[in-house]
Amino acid sequence: MPELRKGASPLWGGRFSEAPTGDLARFGASLEVDRRLWAQDIAGSKAHATMLAAKGIISAEDAKAICAGLDAVAEEISSGEFAFDSAVDEDIHMAIERRLTELIGPAGGRLHTARSRNDQVALDSRLFAKEAAAGLARELRSLMVTLLERAKAERDVVLPGYTHLQPAQPVLLAHHLLAYFWMFSRDVTRVRAAERAADANPLGAAALAGTTYPIDRQMTADALDLSRVIPNSLDAVSDRDFMLDLIYAASVVMAHLSRLCEELVLWSSAEFGFVTMDDAHSTGSSIMPQKKNPDFAELVRGKTGRVYGDLVSLLTTLKGIPLAYDKDLQEDKEPLFDAVDTATSSLAVVRGMVATMEVHADRMAHAAGEGLMAATDLADYLVGKGLPFREAHRVVGALVARCVARGKALDDLTLEELREFSELFEADVLSWVEIRNVVARRRSEGGTSPEALERQFELAESLL
Ligand code: ARG
Repeated sequence: MPELRKGASPLWGGRFSEAPTGDLARFGASLEVDRRLWAQDIAGSKAHATMLAAKGIISAEDAKAICAGLDAVAEEISSGEFAFDSAVDEDIHMAIERRLTELIGPAGGRLHTARSRNDQVALDSRLFAKEAAAGLARELRSLMVTLLERAKAERDVVLPGYTHLQPAQPVLLAHHLLAYFWMFSRDVTRVRAAERAADANPLGAAALAGTTYPIDRQMTADALDLSRVIPNSLDAVSDRDFMLDLIYAASVVMAHLSRLCEELVLWSSAEFGFVTMDDAHSTGSSIMPQKKNPDFAELVRGKTGRVYGDLVSLLTTLKGIPLAYDKDLQEDKEPLFDAVDTATSSLAVVRGMVATMEVHADRMAHAAGEGLMAATDLADYLVGKGLPFREAHRVVGALVARCVARGKALDDLTLEELREFSELFEADVLSWVEIRNVVARRRSEGGTSPEALERQFELAESLL
């Protein structure tokens, strides 16, 4: 057999007289990023070797030696003993195969029969994405559990509901918290869809066109617990849609977290004073001794931008690249890992904040009671007495203008004052505008009344 020329790659050195070194090697390498896929890579290789032996493509002894060798490599990597060699290990696939061959000799060289790094990396990424999606779904679920628990514990607390960040109508805090519960439940659906997208076997596509060996792709799919075989080899090695799906799902998770965090930032401000974040979720200032900052909520809000960036980054990488594998695709893993890591850790951080924040029910109720939030109900009252809604709206609008001019709240008005605006007002109007009653009247399905909320609790619980 011809000798490899010095400096040529052990994997493809046959046609080369030298290999990229130094800065070029570093530029081309992905090991620092994809070493994270080592466990997936080894699982895939064991399944592949076992299938090759079952189909008589390699001997049973070779497959046995390969699997035992891969276990030894796994042991070295997990214990931190594995010596990566940046001079030759361009990526995790090459590092593992190099070490395998060092450990078991020529049998190691048979592992790559009927395979390419192109289907190998597609497989590893899919296995990673599946697990990552399951992890995200678990975190989402714990946050949903915490939101529901908190909502149940605070079921009597009323606070202003806002539109345009202007006080609009009073709502129950539980209702507000459950709004997020439902957002995160939709995130679970999106994450599960991404998990299904990843759950397919690209192995056997080889470099791009399939292989001349009598492989069995269903067998590797079964061994790796993948639910189907990708029907087209070109698609198998170039499809990264499952990554887009997962990063998109993570982006929407971040959008939701960021909205919640923005509210926590507002609510914990001195001006609102609706909640106090616990000390563990706050930081102080190095100069202003009085400060208590909701850093973690702000950070989650900030990290949202990075995850959106990950989505745009991968979309842009995928744009316009010809079939099948192109080296551009090596840039896919950083955004994938970053989006998954950021969303997963952000979910845990926000769950902690929600579980530990102190709610100031008195401040919330005060804010809900003060001002003009019963205005819609006052109009509804007049409608109940036979006035068309548009006309009722105008009457109450004039009333509100009076309150604003005199710095009064609606429930400061006496019956006499009310009757100046409409003869239809009677004594029962005074309790009609009490905040509890305003809330309790919103009994429509999905509304904020305690009664309607009980139905929401049941639905939420049955979903979990
Ligand atoms: N490190 C590469 C990646 O992440 C593995 C596949 C390389 N394939 C190739 N033909 N160069 O995409």
